[in-house]
Amino acid sequence: MTDSRNEGVVNEDISWWRHAVMYEVYPRSFADGNGDGDGDLAGLRARLPYLAELGVDGLWIAPWYPSPMADGGYDVSDFLAIHPMFGTLADADALLDEAHAVGLRVIIDMVANHTSDTHPWFDAALRAAPGSPQRARYIIRDGRGEDGELPPNNWISAFGGGAWSRLPAQKERDGQDGQDGQGEHPGQWYLHTFAPEQPDLNWADPEVLEAFDGVLRFWFERGVDGLRIDAAPALAKVAALPDFDYGEDPRFLSNIWLGNPHWDVDAVHDIFRRWRRLADACPGRPIFVAEAVVNGAERLMRYVRPDELHTAFNFPYLQSAWDAGRQRHAIDATLAALAPVGAPSTWVLGSHDEVRPVSRYGRATTSSEHFADGAGEGVDVALGTRRARAAALLMLALPGGAYIYQGDELGLPNVDDLPDEVLQDPVFRRSDGTMRGRDGCRVPMPWSGTAPPFGFSADGVTPWLPQPESWAVLTVQAQDGQEDSTLSVYRKALKLRHEIPALATDAFAWRPSAPGVLDFQRGPVFRCVVNISGEPVELDCDDAADVVLASTDLDGGFLPVDAAVWLLDGGVGGGFRPPRSLERPAQSIAPKERS
Ligand code: NOJ
Repeated sequence: MTDSRNEGVVNEDISWWRHAVMYEVYPRSFADGNGDGDGDLAGLRARLPYLAELGVDGLWIAPWYPSPMADGGYDVSDFLAIHPMFGTLADADALLDEAHAVGLRVIIDMVANHTSDTHPWFDAALRAAPGSPQRARYIIRDGRGEDGELPPNNWISAFGGGAWSRLPAQKERDGQDGQDGQGEHPGQWYLHTFAPEQPDLNWADPEVLEAFDGVLRFWFERGVDGLRIDAAPALAKVAALPDFDYGEDPRFLSNIWLGNPHWDVDAVHDIFRRWRRLADACPGRPIFVAEAVVNGAERLMRYVRPDELHTAFNFPYLQSAWDAGRQRHAIDATLAALAPVGAPSTWVLGSHDEVRPVSRYGRATTSSEHFADGAGEGVDVALGTRRARAAALLMLALPGGAYIYQGDELGLPNVDDLPDEVLQDPVFRRSDGTMRGRDGCRVPMPWSGTAPPFGFSADGVTPWLPQPESWAVLTVQAQDGQEDSTLSVYRKALKLRHEIPALATDAFAWRPSAPGVLDFQRGPVFRCVVNISGEPVELDCDDAADVVLASTDLDGGFLPVDAAVWLLDGGVGGGFRPPRSLERPAQSIAPKERS
């Protein structure tokens, strides 16, 4: 490890995160360097040139810690090490150096709401007596009912079912029962917002707070540029653990809850203020991005106040239907809520938790719910691909940062027909198979070749989740150099984002537009038009305006349905005329690249 880990060609700009495009790497599915069928850091290091060429500004690496993988690595058994499946700390150091050397920032996941049930702390809690400091690190309580046989309250788990599991009964050790330590304490219950293998930590315990300060410093000192805070609203709970009235729908709908005692509790912000002070005192000023599915933009805004986290994923935007009104509403609500606190938005279309955009937009229900799946609904892949490409140009033209999930730049669809026996997501088991879970968006990346493993692993190796044969036409190799491929659209968009100064500012203004059309300017010369109406729309602009990028071939001077275009006024600026009627012009304009 070098003395100062942040010395690559990443520059010293401490506000890089305000407009950065980050690429999510789900390490088990990105690239397999050692040929065992699981992705790893060696594989990721070998693919850094691909990411640099793609034009993203950095990586978010999903959990790389030791873990029994009961929840895809979000069940951490050691916060200060690397899972042997992925490599070693030395590999992580090398990755950080090499990423920085090619100009890529690196943020990693911080899973602070819970540990694995194999974490030494939970093991110690199991062995310790009720009321002990070891048990105080978790949320462990006596049950209700005569023999404590009922859970302490009615809280539910995000993965379905109740949020409590019972510990075995315990021999009394201190003779409190008057029988010289021979009595039994009925088994207590522990809280798990997610799977039973993920016991919730007690953030009201000072020891937990202090231990995590050390974890944050450990990674900041190694040179990570930031942390993605998993399940951020879950960290604080109302101390009395009261029941919650979930209303008619007993599902984990944190996007509609208000006043919930185990989610988005105000005390959570004290933790983030503490972390912000810690990060601001570190060289390089590492940043935080919150995963926070809360009730609307106003509740989300609280997480990104100037003394808290820097940014938060924009789930209302991700979940919006492919509908101009809904997209526009999500954009407006986000910008309006974040402006008073001066935080930029992050725009997100996919992650390791979501149905891939190609599949979401290619089915009848184009809106989505966090963790939900659409398996069973018919998917029109061609339609979904067309829309997902338009959505990418919309997302990358909005002010703020953006996150691209690995494989979305290839237009991969979700794999909805994985055989039951390979499914690993706890959502599948905990819903008794009624929900297939998130494995369909975690199928390993197709890099090259015409058959699985498509360059993900060495030939002949079977990846941990099977890839569909149909991905032969979607590999990086197949799309490379193809002018009209999804990969090429992403590459051009990311290149233009760096070249067009207005895209690194907060400038944004809607232009008048026909129904079903999104039309906005970023500064005087850049304009993005997205057609979500049912008919082609005329691109009305002066002669000096160039089409610099389109998600699909234009139809003369018309933007086809489910397509997006980026325009640049090469004249004196301000030359975009307001739209006229949608008459077809006699003369076509062909899409062209700006050199
Ligand atoms: C959010 C993560 O993105 C998801 O994959 C995980 O299952 C939960 N948090 C629990 O850690």
